[in-house]
Amino acid sequence: MVKFLALFDHEPRVGRVAGCAVNCVPNSCPFVKFVSSQLATFNSQHATTSPPFLTSLLPFRTLLPLMADAKTTELMEKIVSLCKRRGFIFQSSEIYGGLNGFWDYGPLGAELKRNIKEAWWRSMTLLRDDVVGLEATIIMHPKIWEASGHTSTFSDLMVDCLLTKKRFRADQVEPQSGIAYFYTGATDGASGKESKDSFSVLLPPGKPPESARKVAKQFYQQRGVENTTLIGERTEQVKDTIRYNPENGSLLTEPRPFNLMLKTYVGPVESEDNKSYLRPETAQAIFAQFKNVLEVSRQKVPFGICQIGKAFRNEINPRNFTFRSREFEQMELEFFIRPDEAVEAIYGNVATPSGPGHPGEPQPNWGWQMWHQYWVEERFRFYENIGLPRTSLVEYWQKSDELAHYARATVDILYKFPFSKRDEKGELMGEELEGVAARSDFDLSQHQRFSGKQMTAFDEELKAAWPKLDDAKKTALSQRYFESRKKYLVKVGEPEAKAEKQAKEESDALTKGYYIPHVIEPSAGVDRLALALICNAYGEDQAPDEKGKMETRVVMKFHPRIAPVKVAVFPLLKNKPELVKKAKEVRDLLRPHMSVFYDEAGAIGRRYRRQDEAGTPFGVTIDFDTLGEKGPELQETVTLRERDSMKQERLKIADLPQRLLATIR
Ligand code: GAP
Repeated sequence: MVKFLALFDHEPRVGRVAGCAVNCVPNSCPFVKFVSSQLATFNSQHATTSPPFLTSLLPFRTLLPLMADAKTTELMEKIVSLCKRRGFIFQSSEIYGGLNGFWDYGPLGAELKRNIKEAWWRSMTLLRDDVVGLEATIIMHPKIWEASGHTSTFSDLMVDCLLTKKRFRADQVEPQSGIAYFYTGATDGASGKESKDSFSVLLPPGKPPESARKVAKQFYQQRGVENTTLIGERTEQVKDTIRYNPENGSLLTEPRPFNLMLKTYVGPVESEDNKSYLRPETAQAIFAQFKNVLEVSRQKVPFGICQIGKAFRNEINPRNFTFRSREFEQMELEFFIRPDEAVEAIYGNVATPSGPGHPGEPQPNWGWQMWHQYWVEERFRFYENIGLPRTSLVEYWQKSDELAHYARATVDILYKFPFSKRDEKGELMGEELEGVAARSDFDLSQHQRFSGKQMTAFDEELKAAWPKLDDAKKTALSQRYFESRKKYLVKVGEPEAKAEKQAKEESDALTKGYYIPHVIEPSAGVDRLALALICNAYGEDQAPDEKGKMETRVVMKFHPRIAPVKVAVFPLLKNKPELVKKAKEVRDLLRPHMSVFYDEAGAIGRRYRRQDEAGTPFGVTIDFDTLGEKGPELQETVTLRERDSMKQERLKIADLPQRLLATIR
């Protein structure tokens, strides 16, 4: 059996790798077939480049030097392989060769995702009084995306290879240095054909000029200049350029924006009027339904609305397994708070953070900074609670030039994935799991502007507090509110005079208890979290096999709260009806409380190993002692095996539910 390298996306040299380490038969394994087709496509595009990149499937170890970091790549490869082998994650449409950027979750993956979403929903809604849920449609009125800015600005800059037409995200092209060969055109002496298109090729140091000429000739041949004589060759030393395709040295096009929203048509006519989008985030539905929820939920600001659901982005380069997909799920909370001016009017001051760490239970005089810090810390607690240690996470404060224009602060919570970049000390820098953004009142303001519907909340306490303020305070708070509203309106393009008039009306409304709430948005990805939990859980240790010989054990150390299966129940032998009957009784006792896997096939050691790979935290074995064959004192007791320590203990069947529930809740 040979282990093969599978390249999931269409970027064999720079692409992220995934191994099919299942003991597969290469000619029939869909993974390997997928790799073959990817390589065939790649090689056909590069058939005339020198040298052809790959001509066949190679055992993956041969390819490792191509990867940035062999150790972490190998780890990632094992993880991806396990995901397929154990049924966590499969390629979407695998039998048809796969679809880049789309993934399916198998039986264990589906349970894992459900547990993640349940844990999040529970922490947001069931355990709090101030957050309510929403489940909105994926396709919404296209105006929503105009108001949110997605139609005009939700783009990545992309570049195309002038030779192969392969598309890259401009910010993902690695800087390169070398000698650039420039050409002003080419002619064909025989046919008289000519091209005046300029072109250039970058060669890494030490490569012969012929390589550049070969690439340039291919470029002009594609333009009909068959027997190519290159014109105007000149060279230039270049450093850290991102203008060339790292795979073949060809010049790339100028960067241009590519909108990431996936389009569709609603109704039977495919016209511009019927154009709509699959939502690129779940958040906008929350803003669009803000007034309805406020009216029916008996909530008052500060309060939140949360939603879990699918989102779609036509990512230019889906990569790193499920990390950047084209279809994924988000878990988003929009937590609406009073503007600081309202807080100050009611409480006389605005509480601001006094230092790092969790600020404790929410207080009525909190301003946006306290709420932002609170949600950042709450989210870290959530991750720790489901088994991601704080040391595996990074708190990254976006710099002012990285912030969206309306955001006051954004903290990205990063997880140190094996494929994350490393800093100069060799430490993994992490990749984004979640962003916690203080988005000001931008979103509701935009929907108010575009829909013409009021998005204000009425605040009884503010109305009552305002008349009691002294005049200086009233003027100062009104003025501050006026300035911030005017700034927003001018920024989004309202004429100065109109902005001033509207801001004046809004600051007058504030004095009567009306304002557009500000928002803190913790926005997380389910699939990224599932991948982080899988990476975090993966471990290898040594354990004795059936004959007592030590062997490598693969164990998924999921926290019991999110483990796909909580307990496996094993009769010691499957051909002893009394053992099987008792084991099924135990299974039925536990089933109403947790997910149980019943397994009677194979040696008990092998059954344990299977569950270790599935990440099942507990195994219960029913043996002859359970039946009372060695005396009455052990009758109705079972062996409980703990996955990570492999320690076993004897306990009464009647005590099992309580014992297990204590760890999984
Ligand atoms: N409403 C804000 C928003 O959507 P975002 O940072 O674009 O913000 C939030 O997305 C989260 O959604 C990310 O932190 C990530 O976990 C997840 N996410 C975004 N794009 C993704 C993709 N292409 N594949 C998988 N998850 C993605």
